[in-house]
Amino acid sequence: MAFMHSYLGTNSNAKTQAWKSPYAMKTIDLRSDTVTLPTDEMIEAIVSAHKSGRLGDDVIGEDDVVHELQEKTARILGKEAALLVTSGTQGNVISLLSQASRGDEIVVEEMSHTFLFEGGSMASLGGIFPKPVKGIRGYITPEVLEAAISPDDAHYAETAMVVIENTHNYAGGVIVRPEQVKALADTAHQHGLRVHCDGARLFNAAVALDVPAKVLVEDVDSVQICLSKGLSAPVGSLIAGTEEFIHEAHRWRKKLGGGMRQAGIIAAPGIVAIEKMVDRLRDDHANARYLYERLKDTEGLVIEKPETNILFLGLQNLNIDAAGIARELGKHSILVYGDYGNRTRLVLNRMVDRHDTERVADVLCSLLTSL
Ligand SMILES: Cc1ncc(COP(=O)(O)O)c(C=O)c1O
Repeated sequence: MAFMHSYLGTNSNAKTQAWKSPYAMKTIDLRSDTVTLPTDEMIEAIVSAHKSGRLGDDVIGEDDVVHELQEKTARILGKEAALLVTSGTQGNVISLLSQASRGDEIVVEEMSHTFLFEGGSMASLGGIFPKPVKGIRGYITPEVLEAAISPDDAHYAETAMVVIENTHNYAGGVIVRPEQVKALADTAHQHGLRVHCDGARLFNAAVALDVPAKVLVEDVDSVQICLSKGLSAPVGSLIAGTEEFIHEAHRWRKKLGGGMRQAGIIAAPGIVAIEKMVDRLRDDHANARYLYERLKDTEGLVIEKPETNILFLGLQNLNIDAAGIARELGKHSILVYGDYGNRTRLVLNRMVDRHDTERVADVLCSLLTSL
């Protein structure tokens, strides 16, 4: 599968490769919500954290801004404790290594980020065997999980965990509902498995359902949330769970080189992100729905109504592939990755307002109807 070879695709450097309009059109970047820049308030928060004297060496536990972010995040997620880590990938692998042992297997959805896009880290760093299963729109049903759990027999690896991705990126920002999380977690726990939630976009799910984020993770043992996607912070993720889990995770973070010194300069914008940026994710969802409404009747286009900020365009019936779409959109200073199989992924984010979204819809409508 082509997308397996390159996550970022052939135009991962599209920003520099895109054709530059002589009219200096604004670049509209729909490659990911990770392209969001920090807000002015975030930059001010970094400066005031520095001036307040609350920064310190977090490796020896002396940065009060980091403590504040960790405590606030634990509260928001309804967990005993939280830990700041460098990235979503690091948060996921730390969570898995902290709860499974060398030689164990972990059940993952076959199109999940932990399976496809994290460098095989659970295997290379932890000697853990990922066991991919097919989900329904990204969701591993309890029945599928049960069938995947290996018997207690020396021929098999011991099944230790299952991972839920919420929202599920590759399925198109699809939400895993609280009752689905509970059903899967109950089954996992009955079999003695731990449950990790890759909640890189958990807050998108929460605002879309109008529920507190903790409702989505009350049945899981560990969760990872990203500050640097739609929430617009420049760096960082947090993992949360029991005190015991965080104690173990802290060890793994150190081993993986994730102990950071004056990490309050990352935590300060992170506090702004979790306190002030969650609600505005609704704008991204509304823009994704707007694009869907404009495109849904295009002949030959396969498209599903987005639940959050990610919209996929299925190109299988059209006379253009994802690289072609990326090339054509690039001529209008609109950036998308060119290698998502025969699909194009559009990720609405804070840098793209309604006016920009209208321009994207205009360009796509005329491109797709001219094929
Ligand atoms: C669902 C999901 N999980 C985890 C990650 C990893 O986050 P990071 O890029 O911060 O390592 C991503 C990144 O795009 C993601 O989409």
